[in-house]
Amino acid sequence: MLDKIQQLLNEVNSLTAASADDVEALRIRYLSKKGEVNQLMADFRTVPAEMKKEIGMRINELKTRATERIAELRDAVATKETAADDVDLTRTPYPIALGTRHPLTIVRNEIVDIFSRLGFTLAEGPEVEDDWHVYSSMNFADDHPARDMQDTFFVEAHPDIILRSHTSSVQARTMERQQPPIRVICPGRVYRNEAISARAHCFFHQVEGLYVDRDVSFKDLKQVLLLFAQEMFGKDTRIRLRPSYFPFTEPSAEMDISCNICGGTGCSFCKHTGWVEILGCGMVDPAVLEANGIDSSVYRGYAFGMGVERITNLKYQVKDLRMFSENDVRFLEEFTAAH
Ligand code: PHE
Repeated sequence: MLDKIQQLLNEVNSLTAASADDVEALRIRYLSKKGEVNQLMADFRTVPAEMKKEIGMRINELKTRATERIAELRDAVATKETAADDVDLTRTPYPIALGTRHPLTIVRNEIVDIFSRLGFTLAEGPEVEDDWHVYSSMNFADDHPARDMQDTFFVEAHPDIILRSHTSSVQARTMERQQPPIRVICPGRVYRNEAISARAHCFFHQVEGLYVDRDVSFKDLKQVLLLFAQEMFGKDTRIRLRPSYFPFTEPSAEMDISCNICGGTGCSFCKHTGWVEILGCGMVDPAVLEANGIDSSVYRGYAFGMGVERITNLKYQVKDLRMFSENDVRFLEEFTAAH
């Protein structure tokens, strides 16, 4: 009988269970009414009196051990099952790191949004362009000094293929495709061969607008730009137009807004003038309309163009242009709440 008890003890010590059902089966096998332990109890009656003490202790030891071992197995199986329940492999990993829109995208969208409320539709074009769409169709003569205004990047294999230096190329592409009325807003990246510094970069972003129809006047241009300035910088914003020169517009102007940082009283941003320049504009030169297949005796147009970086600097006072392309998340995260 001692041998039998020892054998059962060994068995109990090496029990394993994979599930709650296994544990229950073991409990029934060892500890139930008809289980191994009770079986031994029943046989105990036949044990000679002088052996009863030792055998009794051994049976108790077995019973305790079996009870402990089965409880251990029950715990182990329970923890395993809860852990497995908690792992949902289809769940999105938390925390979800939310990205932010780039400040230039926020401002570009805002500009496009203002003009689309005024009836302008979006037009886009390629960044790698040909000379015709960037310069020739825009009235830059081959030896026109204005061509030197743009420090162009050429694609070496093809002297005719360049990176666009302004988005006026999209105006050209729109006019060659479509007869008036034309009212488009053209946002996009442009390239100029400039040394990179806090104030200049070899690429930046523009938004240009073009309106061609019968009876379009400078007055219309001025009113639309005033509305834009007030939507963008607040309703107290004032504008002023100064005569300027662009090959594709005549007359041409540059537009200033009352400095939105000091409110026009003078600060270092506006160099104490109270005004900051934000865009170029003018009436489309009839030669540009003709070059793009539009009858200049019937139609007239205005155009304007602005740098998105400049508008963004005015809105958010970003001091160094390079921050826009460095992708430093500490900078980008500052715009989380903006849109
Ligand atoms: N294309 C001009 C520039 O790049 C901006 C402009 C557009 C000026 C339309 C007048 C009219 O500087």
